[in-house]
Amino acid sequence: MSDYLSIKEQDKQYVLHSWAKQGSFNPKVIAKAEGVCFWDDAGNRYFDMSSQLVYVNVGHQHPKVLKAFQEIGTYPLAGPSFATKPKSDLSQRIIELAPSNMAKVFYTSGGAEANDHAVKIARMVSGRYKIFSRYRSYHGATFGAGNLTGESRRFAAEPGLPGFVKFEVPYLYREVIDFDSEEAATAYYLGKLRNQILYEGSDTIAAIFIEPIPGSNGVLIPPKGYLEGVRALCDEFGILMICDEVMTGFGRTGKGFAVDHYDFKPDIMTFAKGVTSGYAPLGGVIISEDISRFFDENVLMTGLTYSGHTMCTQIGVANLEVYEEENIFENAEKMGILLKQRLEKLLTFPSIGEIRSIGLFAGVELVKDKATKEPIIQYGLDYGKDPVGLMNKFISMLSANGFYTYSHESTVIIAPPLIITEEQINEAMDIFESTLKQFEKEGLFPEETLSV
Ligand SMILES: Cc1ncc(COP(=O)(O)O)c(C=O)c1O
Repeated sequence: MSDYLSIKEQDKQYVLHSWAKQGSFNPKVIAKAEGVCFWDDAGNRYFDMSSQLVYVNVGHQHPKVLKAFQEIGTYPLAGPSFATKPKSDLSQRIIELAPSNMAKVFYTSGGAEANDHAVKIARMVSGRYKIFSRYRSYHGATFGAGNLTGESRRFAAEPGLPGFVKFEVPYLYREVIDFDSEEAATAYYLGKLRNQILYEGSDTIAAIFIEPIPGSNGVLIPPKGYLEGVRALCDEFGILMICDEVMTGFGRTGKGFAVDHYDFKPDIMTFAKGVTSGYAPLGGVIISEDISRFFDENVLMTGLTYSGHTMCTQIGVANLEVYEEENIFENAEKMGILLKQRLEKLLTFPSIGEIRSIGLFAGVELVKDKATKEPIIQYGLDYGKDPVGLMNKFISMLSANGFYTYSHESTVIIAPPLIITEEQINEAMDIFESTLKQFEKEGLFPEETLSV
């Protein structure tokens, strides 16, 4: 038995894997990784086209981030009430990168905890309890974040906590109304949201919590004016606006944060993943100056043992330095344009329904039939519940050909490390394209002869 076989067997015997039926789960062993690629124990190379779970922004095994690990111990471990150089430096850098109304950072160990704390902060500041969030959102797996979540990963956190209310996300491709323009769609969704605010009692609502661009639910880019309109509704009714930038933050969309593409500022933002490129577990809540002033006079009634952990913030500083020194957000923007061009060429394939992308953050939605938009997998049948398993088949075929990523419903997520080059995008997308041809022939339309 080789070492790696034994790693896999040990894993299968002792490790519980997220969101998976354990008996049939067959983990890959990662033996080596570098830049935008990793290798399994058999020496097969994969383009990491999801950056693991959309976090390895600076690429695998970045030398400067690894060097920061060798320097762990330079600064002492310290509980949350102490000031340390890494925590102070990282906080200043984050505030300088965030929208101009932002003032302070509260640290957590990841995204779900950040969202839980954003909810608590909004309730403390507003004295109200209801939290609006959207269907087709993912905010994390803890009870709080699980209740914010608007898809099937919420159900294990139910019966739900009181005060969590869901509203519809603009998903124009699957909307039953055929709008004449994005502006018309925006007016429709905002009108519905305004009604819902009134129906729920506007003075009971602490916050509206949204992913500016829902990520794992398919990279749903909002129609023109929508986010600005949600901001206006929040202002009208004294509701706080919270943006979950856990997936979109730190350059993923080609700018510091997704909100930077739009003309509004949230009151609270949450982050994780890209703050350390995943090299250390860290997340947090960024609060505006107004909220910061509230806590000058009121106790912040929450805390975590590892809030502002020395090692994690030290890695965060090194990672943010890499972003700056290597112009990584600019690369994401530039390469994002190339990726979009490559993706749009796929629209000639019979199985490609819609392409949605911004920066290095893309969703490729597959359909069984372009005219009817019949999805490959019915809603709610993700996570191994689909008896047909066509999406799993496509993802497995991509992986077998060296293109590693994941899907949600009928959408494949493409979100490579932000250091990817033009040559690498082309190489990876050649694999995607030839696999798609193979999938259409063998999986999707087996009886038909396709000429694409
Ligand atoms: C938008 C968003 N929010 C929150 C989370 C949860 O973060 P974590 O898994 O670090 O708790 C995720 C994870 O994918 C996410 O995409």
